[in-house]
Amino acid sequence: MTDPSAASQAASAAATQAGLKKVRTRHFQSAKDNGVPITGLTSYDMLTAGIFDRAGIDFLLVGDSAGNTVFGFDTTLPVTVDELIPLTRAVAGAVSRAFVVADMPFGSYESSPEQALHTAFRFMKETHAHSVKLEGGVRSAEQIRRIVEAGIPVMAHIGFTPQSEHGLGGHMIQGRGEGAEALIADALAVQGAGAFAVVLEMVPSEVAKRVTELLTIPTIGVGAGPHVDGQLLVWTDWAGLTPGRIPKFVKQYADLSGVLTTAAQTYIADVASGAYPAPEHEYGD
Ligand code: KIV
Repeated sequence: MTDPSAASQAASAAATQAGLKKVRTRHFQSAKDNGVPITGLTSYDMLTAGIFDRAGIDFLLVGDSAGNTVFGFDTTLPVTVDELIPLTRAVAGAVSRAFVVADMPFGSYESSPEQALHTAFRFMKETHAHSVKLEGGVRSAEQIRRIVEAGIPVMAHIGFTPQSEHGLGGHMIQGRGEGAEALIADALAVQGAGAFAVVLEMVPSEVAKRVTELLTIPTIGVGAGPHVDGQLLVWTDWAGLTPGRIPKFVKQYADLSGVLTTAAQTYIADVASGAYPAPEHEYGD
């Protein structure tokens, strides 16, 4: 941005967004319109939700990535609505500013628009989330339309869609080469169906840029480079808690695994040596 008046307008738009009492769908749209980046993280519990909310995050996704990060499955496929509902309720109950998105798990919306609406009703009534998310572009457009018509905001999710990882042949970048046209068709389909924002996962940066320029609704990138309207990461990857390999697109902002390992080792050693509990940890008569 070279025009100083445009830069100062964007800065004042950013300050307005940051000062919001509650983030709503219209603020996602005004962020895109004013060039203010949107920030999101996953969360699955009230402690992290409260911390991220107070830090000023715009939205929290209670992702079906809970399958990996909470339940320890290899994929997101086994996660059920009944498993995600208590996690989503905990997150929604802990925030005062952030917008909460409930992820609809595999098998809970694909059969028909009616099935999708039934699941969306459950999330909205039983968790107090502010919107739902589901995977798929053209193939999920009717589901999105039905849910939106009932007054429930939908965040769409295209590109690499983890619930289809077996069909897609693994964790593959989507939208490369001729795949770009299919990705654009998916993006237009979810926008046309009424989604208020769309997640682009593992998409080449230039393709994500094309989609972002083409769409009027905001794009949220997960491994989609810098030319999108917002960024989303799985918090356990971002905070260095996930064991083993993490995707190339993740930047680690902390080493919680190292911090907790050192804390546990120190505690074990302190109990063994008698250093804990010390007199200040004891109750008197
Ligand atoms: O479940 C999840 O965390 C997600 C994001 C990775 C987009 O769907």
